[in-house]
Amino acid sequence: MQPLVAPSLLSANFGNLDADIEVINNSDADWFHVDIMDGVFVPNLSIGFPVLKAIKKKARKPLDVHLMMVEPGQYIRRFMEAGASVLTVHYEAVSHLHSVVRDIRSLGIKAGVSLNPHTPVTFLEEILPDLDLVLLMTVNPGFGGQSFIESSYNKIRKLRAMIHETGSQALIEVDGGVDLNNAPLLVKAGVDVLVAGNTVFSSEDPAETIRLLKNPPGTPA
Ligand code: DX5
Ligand code: ZN
Repeated sequence: MQPLVAPSLLSANFGNLDADIEVINNSDADWFHVDIMDGVFVPNLSIGFPVLKAIKKKARKPLDVHLMMVEPGQYIRRFMEAGASVLTVHYEAVSHLHSVVRDIRSLGIKAGVSLNPHTPVTFLEEILPDLDLVLLMTVNPGFGGQSFIESSYNKIRKLRAMIHETGSQALIEVDGGVDLNNAPLLVKAGVDVLVAGNTVFSSEDPAETIRLLKNPPGTPA
């Protein structure tokens, strides 16, 4: 099955974001992946509401917003108003996950929960039926351009089985170190959405790279 592709703007040129947004607008990409970092949950800072709103004005595809911040609950409405269509919070950063997920969905947008590489997928057992998306971190969060953690395939397969067993509608998204070599294997293991930053924006032809991520060579179109 063809995956959705969500290029991560973290690797875009922040000196000329409009140009990179336009490349994604005119490509086969499905979503824009936007990373929000607070310098506490992860050892890095990225962007906040003003830049997110500016992206929203130019983007012609849904914004998939990944919150790498502690206790994001009080900001949910503001992220929806800033343009998020999918809003993902980290399991490790939220005390009252059930309530935050309910708040996100009550605003009419998709709710995702992300797991760091060390967090078992079984921790999602109770909440899985309430989720639209599970984002598996396949690197330690905070930076683009890191190497994919190979043990992630097992997690993907376990989560795929849990989703099947519980009848959950959640999509499986992977984020970190996704490239043209591992993309077909990830899809085979059960991934629905591929995030890719460095692979897309450091390539000579980002639109062609996105096309290849969606249609790995050798698979029927
Ligand atoms: C990292 C971010 C990712 C990052 C992925 O913490 O969540 O979205 O941009 O970058 P690549 O695809 O370069 O590993
Ligand atoms: Zn991300």
